[in-house]
Amino acid sequence: MKKLGVAILGLGVVGGGTYKILNDNREYFKKTQGLDVTVETVLEKNIDRAVSLGIDKSQVASSIEEVVSNPNVDVVVEVIGGIEPAKTFVTKALKSGKTVVTSNKELFAKYWPELEVEAKKNKAGLFFEASCVGGVPIIRTLTEGMQGNKILSIKGIINGTTNYILTKMAHEGWSYEEALKEAQRLGYAEFNPTADVEGFDATYKLSILSSLAFNTKISIDNVHREGITSLTKEDIQYGKELGYTLKLLGIGKNTENGIEVRVHPTFVSNDNPLASVNDSFNAVHLVGDAVGEIMLYGRGAGALPTGSAIVSDVIFAGKHTDYYYASFDNSAKGNKLTKFVSDFTSQYFIRLSVKDSAGVLSKISGLFAKNNVSIKEVKQVSEKEGKVPVVIITHLCPESAVKKAIEKIKSLDAVFSCDSVIRLED
Ligand code: HSE
Repeated sequence: MKKLGVAILGLGVVGGGTYKILNDNREYFKKTQGLDVTVETVLEKNIDRAVSLGIDKSQVASSIEEVVSNPNVDVVVEVIGGIEPAKTFVTKALKSGKTVVTSNKELFAKYWPELEVEAKKNKAGLFFEASCVGGVPIIRTLTEGMQGNKILSIKGIINGTTNYILTKMAHEGWSYEEALKEAQRLGYAEFNPTADVEGFDATYKLSILSSLAFNTKISIDNVHREGITSLTKEDIQYGKELGYTLKLLGIGKNTENGIEVRVHPTFVSNDNPLASVNDSFNAVHLVGDAVGEIMLYGRGAGALPTGSAIVSDVIFAGKHTDYYYASFDNSAKGNKLTKFVSDFTSQYFIRLSVKDSAGVLSKISGLFAKNNVSIKEVKQVSEKEGKVPVVIITHLCPESAVKKAIEKIKSLDAVFSCDSVIRLED
């Protein structure tokens, strides 16, 4: 039976989960995959952590050099996260001709081209299923399951922490701060939550996924990014009353005018399948020109879900020697001919604070009309006379037109402020 030796770099949550799956299922993988997969060594500073997982001290390597010079290691699993030392370790592994499996979205989104050059040069495999949406097999769906399609769009809830926070704000009426605190207590959000709540994590994932979906290099600089920190429970509540749910979406569209890639809070109508993806769950909705709609749903983080994606890559690597690399120009600059759209076309949810008096709505709607922004729905939440919120939902229109209209509207005497402008996908 073919033997496959694995090294795990980092025994944090995901490294521990990966070790458990490989160790617990060794006999099962022999039977079902015809592979004897063994963890040969681990690189982990905290030896007690290794021992607590059942790993013998003698298997704990003292340096990356020791790992990559081990002839029994075929596959190096990198689950350290961040850029350094992960980048140095992965590069050393590839230079030694070892196949690398990584869950590191930041490393991959920023350095995929140079890692791929190293992998090709040394005829090594480079696998990254776990880098995007944890246990949800989205990478292989894109690379192996949808080649017959031109992918028209990819939309997803690709960050579990922000989905947990937005779900609690919607269902429990919590403020952003209250929901974040609970997410931190449960271990979803880090002590410094910036990467999740400012949309960086989702941006890394969307750059990788949309590159694969649209067959062209999409760097993180091409992705428009907005986080969730300024969202209020009032917006969520007004959206709810109009039949919309607020999510942080990663959106990629391949349009006639070019490619749009963006991460931002988005209202989706309640009958959109993404609206019912709650708590820390993730989901990705794809549209292919042949297959139509597909949606994948599952856990985007955690020891065993992310370990599941890593182990599937390890097994794939054990069964394939004709490694695939990106099918597009995967240089850092990518294809210069790829056109990107920056003036997005979308529907908008706009919340204004206005004076409740005769003619105000007509002045506001007049300014939208003057800028070619068509209104779909208006809701005025007026319990008493005075300062009242007005929520306007537009039809599809260019962002530049909405911005122009809002600038004019803000200068009306009867308008106190424009409190929110949130994109909406119907
Ligand atoms: N922090 C991420 C999330 C998981 O909340 O989805 C790893 O990317």
